[in-house]
Amino acid sequence: MGMHVSFDIASSLDQALRSAAVAAGLEPESFSPEVRAADPRYGDFQANGVLAYAKARKLNPRALAEHIIAALPADVGEHCSVSIAGPGFINFLLKPESLLQWITAQDTTERLKSGATSLHHGQKYVVDFSSPNTAKQLHVGHIRGMVIGEAICRLLAFCGAEVIRDNHIGDWGTQFGKLIWGYKHHLDQAALANDPLEELERLYKLTDAATKSDPAVLDAVRAELVLLQSGDAENLALWKKIIALSSGAFTEIYQLLDIHFDHQLGESFYNDKLPAIYAELESTGLAAESQGALVVFHPEHPRFKTQPFIIRKSDGAANYASTDLATMLYRTEHFHADAIAILTDARQADHFEQLGLTTEKWFMRTGRPLPRFTHVSFGSILGEDGKAIKTRSGDPIKLKALLAEAVDRAFVLVTAKAPELPESERREIATAVGLGAIRYADLAQNRSSDYIFSWDKILSFEGNTAPYLLYAVSRVRSIFRKAGLEPNAASAVAGATPPESPAELALARKLIAFPVALKLTTEQLRPHFLCTYLYELAGEFSSFYAAEKVVVDDASIRARRLLLCSRTLLLLETGLHLLGLRTLVRM
Ligand code: ARG
Repeated sequence: MGMHVSFDIASSLDQALRSAAVAAGLEPESFSPEVRAADPRYGDFQANGVLAYAKARKLNPRALAEHIIAALPADVGEHCSVSIAGPGFINFLLKPESLLQWITAQDTTERLKSGATSLHHGQKYVVDFSSPNTAKQLHVGHIRGMVIGEAICRLLAFCGAEVIRDNHIGDWGTQFGKLIWGYKHHLDQAALANDPLEELERLYKLTDAATKSDPAVLDAVRAELVLLQSGDAENLALWKKIIALSSGAFTEIYQLLDIHFDHQLGESFYNDKLPAIYAELESTGLAAESQGALVVFHPEHPRFKTQPFIIRKSDGAANYASTDLATMLYRTEHFHADAIAILTDARQADHFEQLGLTTEKWFMRTGRPLPRFTHVSFGSILGEDGKAIKTRSGDPIKLKALLAEAVDRAFVLVTAKAPELPESERREIATAVGLGAIRYADLAQNRSSDYIFSWDKILSFEGNTAPYLLYAVSRVRSIFRKAGLEPNAASAVAGATPPESPAELALARKLIAFPVALKLTTEQLRPHFLCTYLYELAGEFSSFYAAEKVVVDDASIRARRLLLCSRTLLLLETGLHLLGLRTLVRM
């Protein structure tokens, strides 16, 4: 690991163990050190890989671990005490001087970023997220894709990846027949100006009902769709107008939540690229006609050997699968993606599994590079009754209303806690706390699970919540404010001595675990790992602050405690910003 402690200590230990394994005569290809965060009672990092290696060869794992340790490069011993635990785990406990070295070095967000860059350097990711359907209100279910997607993009970019953010809007399909007919016959201009999505949704519902009771309307709706698809100027213009109106409404929410895209290549963008896709899939023998439709089966798969992936409908029309195959090709050939991540809820799991399998075979047969593909799926948001969350009248809750309610509720809380602050400041705090609470509640859950939405829980100042973490940030800031110091002033922390007391050591050890949390989060595309880390860091800080007085007379003790405070603040703020939260200086 060199004379200096690197940012990513776990990776340095991994390398050191690999070279020790070679020196100790192991087969390097089949030895994986598996370095991870250790149980804090035993060390900072633990390597578990010796066990599997020894087991496969019927060797004594403890003896093998001893061999490897004896062959470790000398600088590992300078920085860590190394021990063997249990059946053959290798534990590394950083020495206080080395903890101090790491902590001192990580002095700015830029420094953290340059350290983190090695994690995904040179990787190009296309992240397809949010991707709502045109002319429909955003409701509470849409928030997951937005906030998880935004966090993943920020985190990957922080860790050195080149990230391309694409909002794959559902801007094509049979609904436009109804929307155009409704627009032509029943538009309420004033309502449209007031709330475009509300009016478009009304037109859609009204037309949909009319097609069911009146066959003449159904015919008229079909005729409008045919006109649109054949390039009729008036209908194309209306279609564009409807898309622009709904994009405008989406943008309002994106701005409120600080969500950004580089591209908005909706489904319609791929229209002219579809015939070539059908042709390739047929000529490579992957797709075949079945009852008029073009379908792909996967004989090796238990379900998809009989459940078709329909890539062109029997009436010749394109569908969700057709455009998604086109996105895979475009993102590979045009963007040169190394990895593609698409965020949707878990109900689309089959579609994306079939898409992944089909793309793999298709690209293999046509000699194309195959980007790693991840369906970043997530569960549903449930009401406190455990059922899909709804308004009292049974409609889905509109996202705009939910966000406004969050800010209102936070305002009441903030006012109760700090009535002395001017109203404008309380409003600002309430915005950060309210929006942060919604966002954090979503990110803090393992995305694969459903979660129960509860105002009391997400707005609580206790537990793994945004208010708790934002409050922790403002508390560390107030230590510096009261001492009349800048948190990142080098002078405040100059001459810091290594952490010594149990509380100092525990906090220091938590600080150096940041890269492990980043790595886990970006490899699995699961932001809750970072949330858990930040929550634990804030907890460790609380214990430290309860145990130790920070601004003491002894200059070196004061400096080392201020250093711990300063880096706690830096990691909390950096982490929360990566998750998309706004932090506050005071609250
Ligand atoms: N518009 C789709 C929906 O609302 C999500 C699209 C996700 N992206 C994709 N490439 N399929 O369910």
